[in-house]
Amino acid sequence: MAEVIVVENADAAGELIAASIRALIEARPDAVLGLATGSTPLPIYRSLARSFADRPLDVSQVRGFSLDEYVGLPAGHPESYRSVITRDVVTPLGLTPGNIHVPSGDPAGLPAAGADYERAIVRAGGVDLQILGIGRTGHLGFNEPGSSFESLTRVKTLTPQTRADNARFFASADDVPVHCITQGLGTIRRARHLVLLAVGEGKAAAIAAAVEGPVTASQPGSAIQLHPHVTVVVDEAAASMLANLDYYRYAWANKPAWQGI
Ligand code: GLP
Repeated sequence: MAEVIVVENADAAGELIAASIRALIEARPDAVLGLATGSTPLPIYRSLARSFADRPLDVSQVRGFSLDEYVGLPAGHPESYRSVITRDVVTPLGLTPGNIHVPSGDPAGLPAAGADYERAIVRAGGVDLQILGIGRTGHLGFNEPGSSFESLTRVKTLTPQTRADNARFFASADDVPVHCITQGLGTIRRARHLVLLAVGEGKAAAIAAAVEGPVTASQPGSAIQLHPHVTVVVDEAAASMLANLDYYRYAWANKPAWQGI
């Protein structure tokens, strides 16, 4: 079962997860991080940047693999996930740019891009800690409903809902690409620790389905139930539709001190 931790707000979530990532890097300087885009993980990156500023840590060997990328945006487009990861993660954290990978959404290379990305993750020894957000359709990465739990990095078609949700980053909804390349649910499930963060009532249904709903491809988030080490960090609003909330709070309050998340 996933460990569900209810925190006061997004900043508290960011601090909790950032502390765990810092501890991972201290133990393993060449740790492999699974990076996520979207607005949800930003407090994690901000908290990590503060932590590194307060107590410097050598992060030059840290490696990273991003979950997904839009297909067909021109190189350097400010909303390409390559640009977003550079702006929000690589630069503020001082990571080594060459160590940070994002799937290529260049249409010319698409047939081989998924397999290339999978090979790169395997060569790196796999992902130690995968940061995840969740879409309102329940998607992890860009694995929209119907995605196979065994799927690997490949091209997917975004749902109209996801395109509408992400229109805020573009001049108009029509500018949001129709296709993306995303790690599969099978790729994500190979990471050794999944950390899923969600805030706000707009995510409550997706979180309840992921944590407590039936395991079904119709709810890609429910793939987390097949993983042995999952931490779900939510604020009160995102937790509001969880049936077993009292138990999660009880378990967290009684968590043995020696256990990390
Ligand atoms: C995006 C990303 C996902 C992210 C989700 C939620 O489209 N591909 O990785 O988790 O949608 O985004 P946000 O955190 O902005 O709500």
